[in-house]
Amino acid sequence: MADTKKAWGGRFAAGPDARLEAFNASIGFDVRLVREDIRGSIAHARMLGKQGIVSPEEAATLEDGLWRVLAEIDADSLAFTVSDEDVHSGVERRLRELVGAVAGKLHTARSRNDQVATDLRLWTKGALLDLAAGVLELRAALLDVATAYPDAPMPGYTHLQRAQPVLLAHHLLAYDAMLCRDLDRLKDAERRTDVSPLGSAALAGATFPIDRHATAADLGFAAISTNSLDAVADRDFVLDALYACATIAVHLSRLSEEVCLWASAEFRFLYLADQFSTGSSIMPQKKNPDIAELARGKSGRVFGHLMAMLTVIKGTPLAYNKDFQEDKETLFDAVDTVLITLDVLPPMLRTARFDRGRMAAAAVADFSLATDAADLLARRGVPFREAHETIGKLVARCAAEGIGFADLSPEQWATVHLVFAAERPPLTAIESVAARDIEGGTAPARVGAALSAARGALGHDRDWLIERQAARAAVMEGGPR
Ligand code: ARG
Repeated sequence: MADTKKAWGGRFAAGPDARLEAFNASIGFDVRLVREDIRGSIAHARMLGKQGIVSPEEAATLEDGLWRVLAEIDADSLAFTVSDEDVHSGVERRLRELVGAVAGKLHTARSRNDQVATDLRLWTKGALLDLAAGVLELRAALLDVATAYPDAPMPGYTHLQRAQPVLLAHHLLAYDAMLCRDLDRLKDAERRTDVSPLGSAALAGATFPIDRHATAADLGFAAISTNSLDAVADRDFVLDALYACATIAVHLSRLSEEVCLWASAEFRFLYLADQFSTGSSIMPQKKNPDIAELARGKSGRVFGHLMAMLTVIKGTPLAYNKDFQEDKETLFDAVDTVLITLDVLPPMLRTARFDRGRMAAAAVADFSLATDAADLLARRGVPFREAHETIGKLVARCAAEGIGFADLSPEQWATVHLVFAAERPPLTAIESVAARDIEGGTAPARVGAALSAARGALGHDRDWLIERQAARAAVMEGGPR
């Protein structure tokens, strides 16, 4: 029979009402912090022993007991109940069952307030790395698809109207650029999360000679917090993670919207693989881009979690408030939602087949080469505004006659402007893109260079991630006592 006494029960004459217990408990969701909680307690127990706050034997008993609790978690043989209230009390309860009364010494110089802040920071650091891995996976997929279509022109759009041709690879690299910023935000969030609040205790610090640097180093934190009130009241790192999730989600949503458009019969730039499409229960012909639609749709709740958390924090006086318990479900769901989306988009993209012919035809349709014609006039000395007017009139004339630039004879070009008597403007998408030979432009050589640079950056980012993941694994494994 599990011990159901509350850690805070001393001054209470009556036990908690079942409705309070159900409402108050976070064990149903904060059980996800159990590894971080145990690891944090191990660091605290070690430090208590080293500082002589508990005896070395007591510290060893606490640490051994905590590892046993973790082993039970790994073996799936430990169950928590609502009367455990939260993961911190649940772990301590089990520790007491295993090692006896000495378990009560673990909470010396510590409060659940600095404990939960420590646990959640540790968890968030891991989550940010998981998100980074997902972002890198999607970047790899985008680069691979871009590599498979290095010279395929497609229409570039503004206002969702065909504007000027671009290369598909250039378009895909635009998403790589967004995801690079997303990774940067994750790194930034990780840097700010990497601060240990442990030792701030309830709000004012501890009366024991604790070594905050020792616990921080043991847990792999880069620094310790500087103000005990802020340390237990600060959930900015949750906001940072949620904002990083939200910007990833907004990028995934935009990409997904393009996939939905491109997979439609109106565009038909790509065909999604059967394994990554769904059908209709009534219309036998349907093939739907559900993955992309869901990715677009799921962004809404990620944004919602950011807004929820801002709202949770905004009215809270210093220092800890129970409101903060609301931080976990929002953060967990935002991370889970972005991770599951990052898991499915790469294979969906990798297995899609682009229709080069459709894209190339659309790339030059609707007078998409009008700017190229105006640019040629401007290069030969015609003021650009005048060139714009001349080509604008030509577009109007051709549109009225239902013809395109490619249908005009050399004589007709000569009547548009004297310049065109000697040379004709670009009439193919490939000439048009090749002309945009500037850094950041869509000329094939520039896109090729951008692709190599993107591959180089991806390699560096992978190295960074492997190093951080190894450091995290070493911390979670616990190191020597
Ligand atoms: N379950 C609590 C939370 O998530 C843990 C901290 C409880 N602290 C307290 N003073 N009641 O925030």
